[in-house]
Amino acid sequence: MYQINSNYQKLPGSYLFSTIAKKVAAFTEANPDRPVIRLGIGDVTQPLVPAVINALHRAVDEMADASSFRGYAPDLGYDFLRNAIVEHDYKSRGCGISADEIFVSDGAKSDSGNIQEIFSKDCKIAVTDPVYPVYVDSNVMAGRCGEYNSQTQTWSRVIYMPCTRENGFVPEFPKETPDIIYLCIPNNPTGTAVTKAQLQGWVDYANKNGAVIIYDAAYEAYISEPDVPHSVYECDGAKTCAIEIRSFSKNAGFTGVRLGFTVVPKELKCGQVSLHDMWARRHGTKYNGAPYIIQRAGEAVYTEEGRAQLKAQVAYYMKNAGAVKEGLSKAGYEVYGGVNAPYIWLKTPEKMSSWDFFDYLLEQANVVGTPGSGFGPSGEGYFRLTAFGSYENTMAALERIKVL
Ligand code: MLT
Repeated sequence: MYQINSNYQKLPGSYLFSTIAKKVAAFTEANPDRPVIRLGIGDVTQPLVPAVINALHRAVDEMADASSFRGYAPDLGYDFLRNAIVEHDYKSRGCGISADEIFVSDGAKSDSGNIQEIFSKDCKIAVTDPVYPVYVDSNVMAGRCGEYNSQTQTWSRVIYMPCTRENGFVPEFPKETPDIIYLCIPNNPTGTAVTKAQLQGWVDYANKNGAVIIYDAAYEAYISEPDVPHSVYECDGAKTCAIEIRSFSKNAGFTGVRLGFTVVPKELKCGQVSLHDMWARRHGTKYNGAPYIIQRAGEAVYTEEGRAQLKAQVAYYMKNAGAVKEGLSKAGYEVYGGVNAPYIWLKTPEKMSSWDFFDYLLEQANVVGTPGSGFGPSGEGYFRLTAFGSYENTMAALERIKVL
């Protein structure tokens, strides 16, 4: 008789955003005359920019002609894209990353869920709390997190690093030394960031303690303050302790197109074993490469035209973030984030729980957000709104919340 991977039985019934989607669907079915505004999942709403659309059309036409048709993509990514990434994301910042250290993929969610496969089951992970649920859930599936305590909402083998208003949303070094440290900067869900000096502290800590940092920089394009790092490789010594994950979803609106990449420096070694070689082996075995058409679209993101168009798109979403932040602050809410990231993180009023506030907002204002407790125990009493809605919807949602 076969046996299942019983670690799956330990997980909550459904992924956070699926739970929310089900709740909203039930509300909409019961109240067809009360249209909801969705500021829950961080999904983009603006169309792909013209530079990307044109590149997609050109690539589709190439696929229609035998002389330019492409079959399997190179499993680590086409050179034209890897070179563009290095040129614009790393060389310009003095990061010293080379094209063969870039692994192109179908997105940051898969990479951040899959990367744990190259580490031993005995490794202890540390996560900021609140945290993007994929990091923890994927480690639970691998049997690395121990048992769940439903009262404290924590896993027995996970080290939680609270990020709350009390510590300015900056994680402190944990008492117990972890093996794998997940950092998402700018942060999802709190929308806050750290300075380069603070990140340097984490890089030094990881090198000193033989830990590896999984650095998720999916929201890098939203950074507006000069001392916030765009890449972990801006820090000295990061190449011997950090893997960086990037996405095209938020900076270029590719949530439905799917493209991302992971950087594994060749200097990153566990003893004599190269993590770069391990990830290459894993990628080559389990992945057949992001589609040619999509990689050409990714290349267009880095053209002069693409960069100008996307700068405007990022500014569009950040205008939403600024308006929500200001509007809610004026209405008496305690509001964080929204300066270096497209997320607004607010304290629920009158000590309401995160889920109570979710229900209240859905029922009374017909606005959907994300309960902070869904991201971890320290998210309790907080609530996340995304700035990825259309400007009109975002302003309408803001008015509805203010009226409450
Ligand atoms: C979020 O809302 O946290 C993100 O959109 C989820 C994701 O990027 O997978």
